[in-house]
Parts: sequence; structure tokens; C-alpha cells
Amino acid sequence: MIKRREFLRRAATTAGFALACKSSPVAWAQSDSDARIDVLLDEPLGTISPNIYGHFTENLSGVIYDGIWVGENSKVPNVNGIRKELIDQMRKIKPAIVRFPGGCFADSYDWRDGIGPVDKRPRRTNFWSFGDPPPAPVTHRYDPNRFGTNEFVQFCRLIGGQPYLAANLRSLPAEQFYRWVEYCNSPAGTTTLADERAAAGFKDPFNVRYWGVGNESWGCGGKFTAQEYAVEYRRFTTWVPGYNNELSFIASGPDGDNREWTRGFFEEIARKGKEQIRGIYGWALHHYAWNLSRGKTQDWNAGKGDALKFDPVDWYEVLREGDRMESMINAHWQIMGETDTDHHVKLVVDEWGPWYRPGSELTPGDQIEQLPTLRDAVFSGMTLDTFNRHPEKVGIACCAQLINCLNSLYLAHEDKFCVTPVGHIFQMYASHQGAQSVRAEFSAPSIHYDRDGKPTSFWGQKGSASLLDKNLVLTAVNPDVSHQLEARIMIRGAQAKSGLATVLTASDIHAHNTFEQREAVVPRTEKLEARGPNLNFRFPAASVAKLEVQLA
Ligand code: AHR
Repeated sequence: MIKRREFLRRAATTAGFALACKSSPVAWAQSDSDARIDVLLDEPLGTISPNIYGHFTENLSGVIYDGIWVGENSKVPNVNGIRKELIDQMRKIKPAIVRFPGGCFADSYDWRDGIGPVDKRPRRTNFWSFGDPPPAPVTHRYDPNRFGTNEFVQFCRLIGGQPYLAANLRSLPAEQFYRWVEYCNSPAGTTTLADERAAAGFKDPFNVRYWGVGNESWGCGGKFTAQEYAVEYRRFTTWVPGYNNELSFIASGPDGDNREWTRGFFEEIARKGKEQIRGIYGWALHHYAWNLSRGKTQDWNAGKGDALKFDPVDWYEVLREGDRMESMINAHWQIMGETDTDHHVKLVVDEWGPWYRPGSELTPGDQIEQLPTLRDAVFSGMTLDTFNRHPEKVGIACCAQLINCLNSLYLAHEDKFCVTPVGHIFQMYASHQGAQSVRAEFSAPSIHYDRDGKPTSFWGQKGSASLLDKNLVLTAVNPDVSHQLEARIMIRGAQAKSGLATVLTASDIHAHNTFEQREAVVPRTEKLEARGPNLNFRFPAASVAKLEVQLA
């Protein structure tokens, strides 16, 4: 007898599918569907941390100034200087965690510059100043420090998320890290820094739990070797007072596939005793899908593709690059397990998204801003599904970056604002937060296409499923640019009572929202015919779908 897992594995191939249909004792309703999805309710994978639906806000070009911070006296509606429309939109997506102030910026940032009376705060050259073209406002080049720790924590409170602060390991001494923790967390009336915080209107501690210790320490964060960085990490994190808070330190992990960085760091940390590993909460992994050259170059600039002008082959290429996320998660997890044998340390994918060449910015002068299309919505759905499928491994993930940047959920300039297709995906997927991830097996015919004269294929459907009480949420992407997918969905272990389907797609794969056309790409929700153990659903071409099924 073929075991169920083996049966499903075989069913994933065309030949295996026919074989399995004939010989498997597992009963299912035959159908003419192109695809099938088996939701295995009795195979829980772990709770989906709301923190994997996190965000990244760097002091980079238009992200903070203009995107988040407009100032109290602005004609743009704001709450204490923070853009109101952003707050309103973010509340809808339940943003559990937000990372600040970088990115590369973090390793040149002195947190003290951003506290105290605003008229006394110094103006500094922004780390990113070199790249901002002339139309950019001066705040992009010279950091006014108007938006510092207090304002960021206020922003987090307004949107209902918690702060994740990235400490400077490259250009400040470890002592400054302790002091920043003290400023944020020491109880009212205890220390001079607690008094400074109180003088700014924040008597009660911020109780910041998550702290990044350096960023991309293999690159802009200091060009360390893994071993050198591990030594620095140890020095920075040894005996940091928590002030009655649990401090969760996140170490600067690999650039994509760089497994040597992971192995080198963990081995060096373990050299002082394996118990040292228990002091690490997370291992930060960054993966940008930037190289769309189809293997022609590794050059950072030449390899990039265009955000708006692309062919189907480029659509698949960016998805292929993004889809490497899953093998990276598995590979780094396995290496971490060589020293962290009981898997105490979680992966923190605190920068992810596609990265295109300059030219699509909605606001001229905004460096690294790009215009997300339907392609990026499918990319984002695919990536969030990947995280959902690995709830025991991924503790935090932050999309890069929230607003006016790479895979942004929102674009804003002065009083103009729009939600991008990526923002809509985050709203759709918010229903997974805190739910139990359950195994779902997707069996769909592969997509075949021509990649520079070579016949190439890409998988036909992937997704994830979660269960909270009697609510089953199934999300899936159909990456095929031109074919819809008729799927038979088998809910193993329960009966459907009713359902809703929400779909994000468009007739043009380049579709995107702008300040003028804010609703070119928006999700549509309709009633789903859901009764009994099986249901059918037609996944449109180039789409992301969410099926919410109420179980009996
Ligand atoms: O997100 C933009 C930059 O990309 C970040 O500052 C850095 O960490 C990464 O290389």
C-alpha cells in the first residue's frame, strides 16, 4: 500500500498521477480538474508567527521623510507628524513588527542624534546621500534626525506593531548599544537616560524586545569575515542589561545562499561553548531577487531587470529567483542545526523582495523606489506562502521596504498616496497570522516556456494553508501568465460549511496602481461554493487567491 505522503508525492508528477489514480487505496472524487490541492488538517506544521508579516523601514531616500514622517505642521493629514493614511492602511494588515532604522543606514547611525529636543538634534550626512539625484529633497541627503527612536516607537504604537531596532556594530562601540537599550527599556526614574526619555514625554519604558546586532556585516556592515563578526557579536551581546525585558538578539546572517557565512558564524560562536548559541534569538537572512539576466551576468547593475517593462520570460525569472527562498531556508536551517542541534535559533528573513533597476520611481528623486506590479504581488504571495510552510524555522520576516522603496506596500509623496498590489497581498494574507499552519499538497501541471532557446518549466501552483478554530485559510498563486487553473480541493479531516474567495489579478501582467489610478489592481471577494469535503475553484491566470472556508 502506498503511504499517503508517497502517494501525494507521486501524484505531483504527471506519470505518477496516473499511477496513483489507478493503484492508490486512498479514496477521492475523480474530476476533470487541471490541479488538485490536498489540505491535510491532521498534519500541523506549527503556529504561523504574526512576526513573519513584518516590515522594514530604513532612513533611505523617501521611506521615512515623505513616506512615514510628514511633520506635525504639514498639510498632509497626520498624527503627531506621522502620515495618517499610512496608519489607517497599516492597521488593516495587522503589522506585528517593524524594523528600523536600516539596513546599511543602521551601521552609520548614532541613535543619540535622534533623541532630545528636536531643535537641538544634529543634521548628518545620510548613508545613502551618494545616490540621491538632484530632484530629491534635502532630507534624503542630510538626515535632520527629526524622526528618531521616540517617533519610531510612536509609529509602531499607532499601527499596533512592535519595534525591532537595528544597532550599529560597524561604527559605534558596544557601549552605545547598551545605552540605546537603556534609553528604551530602563524603568521610569531609574537612570539618566530614563529621565531623558521621560523629558521627551515617554515616562514608561518602550520595552523593546528585538534588537538586530549589525546589518549585512559581510558587506556594508563592516566587511567582516564570519569569524570576525561572531567575535564582535559576542562582545556586543554579552551582559546587556534587559531591565526586566527579555532581549531577543538577531545576528547578521547570510547574503542569500552564502552557507559559509552561516557555518563560520555558528562554529565560531560554539567554540566558546555550545550554550553560547542559546543567547541568539535569530539569524538574519537577506534575499533579493535582483538578477534577471538568466545566467548571463553576476553584475549587480547589469543583471537587474525593469519593474514595468518585462516579457513573460522576465515574469518567470523573477519568480524563479524569489522561489530560491525555500531552498535557502532549508539549507541554512540544516547548517544551523549542525551546531544548534535543538534548533533554538530562528531564521529572521528581515529583507526580502524583488529589486529592479532604477527608472520606475513614482516620485522622481526617490532612490531605490520601484513601482510594484501584479508580478510583485504574485512574488509576495509566493514568498509569504513559503514562510507559512516553515513556521518552525522562520520567526520573523520583514518585506523590504514598507513605503517608497523596493517591494513597497505603499507609495506616497506629499499628499498623494496609494496602496500597491503588494499591500493588497499583505491584507489578504493577514488571516494566516497566529493560525496553525497545516500541510497542503499542490499538484498542478508545470508551466513550460522558452528561456533563451531552451525549453524550461516552472511549477504550476504553490500555496499554504492554516487553521484557526474552524476557519481554514488557503492561499495559492497561479504563476501562469496566460492559463487559468481549475483545481479540485480536498479537505482531509473536515467538511466545509461555507466560504469566501478573494482573488487579486488583472488582465495585464504589468498592471499597477499609481497616485492617479489607485485601484487598477485590487482584490475582489465573492462567495465560494463550499459544502462537504471537496470543492472546486478556478484560479485565474497570474493570480493570488485566498479561500476562507468555514468548517462544520
Ligand atoms: O533595502 C536596501 C538595502 O539592501 C539595505 O539597506 C541593505 O541591508 C540591503 O543591502
